[in-house]
Amino acid sequence: MFHSWWRLLPSMVPFFLPVLPFMILVSPPPTVSAQPKQTNVSLGSSVAASDGASWPSPSGRFAFGFYPKAQGLAVGVWLTTTPNRTVVWTANRDDPPITDGYLRLTFDGRLLWSAPGGVEKAVSQGSEPAALAAMIDTGNFVLYNSNGAIIWSTFGSPTDTLLPGQSLFPDGQLFSSLSEADRSTGKYRLHNQNDANLVLYPVDTSDTADDAYWDTGTFQIGFLLTLNLDSTGLLYLSGDNGSYSKNISLPKASSGSPSGTQVYYRAIVDVDGILRLYSHSFSNNGSSTTRVEWAALQDRCLVRGVCPLNSFCSPNADEEPVCLCPPGFDFVDPTQIALGCARNSSGGDCSTKSSDVGDEGLTMVTVKNTTWVNKAYSILPPTTSLDACRAACLNDCFCQAALFIEDKCYKQMLPLRYGRTGSNDTLLLKVAASRKQAVVHERESKLRVDVLVVGVVLAGLSVIVFAISGYFFLERKRAARYIRTPDSDNSGSDDYSTLKSYSYGELERATENFREELGRGAFGTVFKGTVSDGARVIAVKRLEKMVEEGEREFQREVRAIGRTHHKNLVRLLGFCNQGSSRLLVYEYMSNGSLADLLFKAETWPTWRERCRIALDVARGLHYLHEELENHIIHCDIKPQNILMDATGTAKIADFGLAKLLMPDQTRTYTGIRGTRGYLAPEWHKNAPITVKADVYSYGVVLLEIICCRRNMELEEAGHGETLLELAYECLVDDEFGRLKKDEAMDETELARMVRAGLWCVQEQPVFRPSMKNVIMMIEGHMEAPLPPPPASFSS
Ligand SMILES: *[C@@H]1O[C@H](CO)[C@@H](O)[C@H](O)[C@H]1NC(C)=O
Ligand SMILES: *[C@@H]1O[C@H](CO)[C@@H](O)[C@H](O)[C@H]1NC(C)=O
Ligand SMILES: *[C@@H]1O[C@H](CO)[C@@H](O)[C@H](O)[C@H]1NC(C)=O
Ligand SMILES: *[C@@H]1O[C@H](CO)[C@@H](O)[C@H](O)[C@H]1NC(C)=O
Ligand SMILES: *[C@@H]1O[C@H](CO)[C@@H](O)[C@H](O)[C@H]1NC(C)=O
Ligand SMILES: *[C@@H]1O[C@H](CO)[C@@H](O)[C@H](O)[C@H]1NC(C)=O
Ligand SMILES: *[C@@H]1O[C@H](CO)[C@@H](O)[C@H](O)[C@H]1NC(C)=O
Ligand SMILES: *[C@@H]1O[C@H](CO)[C@@H](O)[C@H](O)[C@H]1NC(C)=O
Repeated sequence: MFHSWWRLLPSMVPFFLPVLPFMILVSPPPTVSAQPKQTNVSLGSSVAASDGASWPSPSGRFAFGFYPKAQGLAVGVWLTTTPNRTVVWTANRDDPPITDGYLRLTFDGRLLWSAPGGVEKAVSQGSEPAALAAMIDTGNFVLYNSNGAIIWSTFGSPTDTLLPGQSLFPDGQLFSSLSEADRSTGKYRLHNQNDANLVLYPVDTSDTADDAYWDTGTFQIGFLLTLNLDSTGLLYLSGDNGSYSKNISLPKASSGSPSGTQVYYRAIVDVDGILRLYSHSFSNNGSSTTRVEWAALQDRCLVRGVCPLNSFCSPNADEEPVCLCPPGFDFVDPTQIALGCARNSSGGDCSTKSSDVGDEGLTMVTVKNTTWVNKAYSILPPTTSLDACRAACLNDCFCQAALFIEDKCYKQMLPLRYGRTGSNDTLLLKVAASRKQAVVHERESKLRVDVLVVGVVLAGLSVIVFAISGYFFLERKRAARYIRTPDSDNSGSDDYSTLKSYSYGELERATENFREELGRGAFGTVFKGTVSDGARVIAVKRLEKMVEEGEREFQREVRAIGRTHHKNLVRLLGFCNQGSSRLLVYEYMSNGSLADLLFKAETWPTWRERCRIALDVARGLHYLHEELENHIIHCDIKPQNILMDATGTAKIADFGLAKLLMPDQTRTYTGIRGTRGYLAPEWHKNAPITVKADVYSYGVVLLEIICCRRNMELEEAGHGETLLELAYECLVDDEFGRLKKDEAMDETELARMVRAGLWCVQEQPVFRPSMKNVIMMIEGHMEAPLPPPPASFSS
């Protein structure tokens, strides 16, 4: 049971209210001198259209006016750099250029570009009439109403650039420009998403991970974030009313620019799709320099969409991206690369009659060391060889390419996307084998009559074959919306490569309308069910906490969980994501939870069994923490979340439902998860939560496994002491009698496990061992010194 902090807020508000007037009194009056200067533009002012005509800011560095676009002019704000102006904002960027007219702040308070022939284009949006406009030295052009309140500003409607003091608010986007000369909407966008992640995508995509090529990894932190640029050139995200901030650009080494030098910063989604931070230094003598201070990416081939469909990106000697077609493919139109590549011969797909291109007419060519977005429609069992992968694709008329990644074969259909060199993956492409094709033609002319007869038969056959394969294909599609995942577990079950997508109705039937409840957890209730006519028992978890989260987040979490395969993790079999119903389907664990076993005298496992269970759990956690690409912090390790299968193997349940941890990132949680008695101290300190929080919980569980009793049991019974404290005393006194049940135990083994457990529950996360080290300690492969006393807090 946990509360979200914002639910607590309303009750606090009255508490603060009486303090407010006082706070206003003590706060110093705003200093007028700190205000940047501005050029006022009064009602009725106008500027005649011509290159460079403008309302400049007092410093002259920024101006609002006309700059050249194609054969005409556009209106925008620019920084006066030489030789070319640096445009930082554009009005109506996708409109065609105009050559004539006036930019005018009308007497009725509208900002217009009026061109000859009665054309009137609004430059600003906003319902209220303006009373005054101003070009401020910050680069912001603003409109004020008669009360002096800002009703519209160029900072409030960013195009591709952020200036110091300007922010990209939640759900805001920056769009790159088409080219340096044409500031129309280009090919890339930066989205400040409502899940708090800041992500770069190609323009015409939905916000899916397959299309993303850079992100800040700040998703799902529990509040929205704003992207800001400050006057020192620091680009950072802030949120939670100022209590959260994350730097994006590296803090600048204060290299002390020469005195008299003025530095202007700007962040921009560049034409090539990369978010960059530039500085422009202007020295007293009039010279200026421009520098890239920071870039989101260096390798321009990592930008998705830099190369068109079926092509791949390869950097040339100058690190410029070059798009190439794979063998057997040519550019559709070499003068228009953007149209992409296509196979230079027809045939080889299911719509081609087998008499056009026989099986002999096709071959698989190998493109080494490239990578593509893996959109497999089918995955072959792991350990398929490259040759088997090649053969499988050749013999499947739907298969047009296959990606061979590590030792797995993923069949693909065209088009292929986001290809680039620089990976160990291998692409196999189905292309016409031109030589053999000729042979087929030769035979055709000789045996015309036979071909006619055979052709009729073949055509009939191919209709049947097509119908059958089409049926299977559609079956797969229908059963689909599933997420395909690679699998390292070759258990021989037929669904090795997929998570099954269930309909709500199917799961309702499987669980007989959610009749038999197996348990209740932080995330939802678990029910028993059967599928495949009672052949397979499953556990269906109905998620209650996650319903408000978006489709994409759910998919991502499920995909991440589905990618985990370890014998000490409860296996996810499928899911249901229908309307607001989110359910997860797991393998059924027939022997209940570790808590059921451990805390009842009738069911105490033997010492040997307990040692094995302790190792099982440690190995499962080690896998989550150290063997996955995106580490998973469990956040709620406790005996209730450790389930026992029919063979007595312990498996961790409920993992991955907490947030994913990116490899290079720790994060602060807003709400406390986990369970009292197992929570690491950092949960109470609002400190970053890392995998070491799980290590702490594991330490508690380990001591509970050793002693067959609950950590909080003694304390709750009024002894004022936790199991951790007791264990530490016993270890220091070298007197284990108080920890043991009446059973024979190897005392050195016992001491080893107690030490390992006490190292895990250290107050400082850095002192806690990694799960790998814990395993080595338990197994006796690593000497564990006497630990310091455990964290002594009891909440
Ligand atoms: C611009 O207008 C504002 C509001 O009327 C005024 O306070 C300010 O002094 C003016 N600035 C200049 C430079 O005229
Ligand atoms: C300035 O603009 C011209 C015309 O668009 C272009 O050819 C030139 O390369 C630009 N110069 C710089 C330094 O960007
Ligand atoms: C943010 O903080 C300010 C001042 O501390 C306060 O006035 C405001 O109500 C806070 N906003 C929210 C959404 O908590
Ligand atoms: C972000 O950068 C600022 C300025 O360099 C620095 O003071 C601050 O400590 C940095 N914050 C983090 C979290 O690194
Ligand atoms: C102007 O000053 C900068 C340093 O501030 C110097 O590097 C540059 O050479 C000077 N240029 C001229 C034309 O004097
Ligand atoms: C297709 O491309 C391959 C190699 O890229 C080439 O050998 C073959 O001749 C081409 N075929 C045609 C019809 O252009
Ligand atoms: C492709 O990758 C393999 C494995 O890293 C490497 O041995 C080989 O040299 C690479 N080939 C090319 C053409 O880069
Ligand atoms: C390719 O494989 C080699 C050797 O296995 C490895 O060192 C390298 O990091 C891999 N490269 C990529 C891009 O995965």
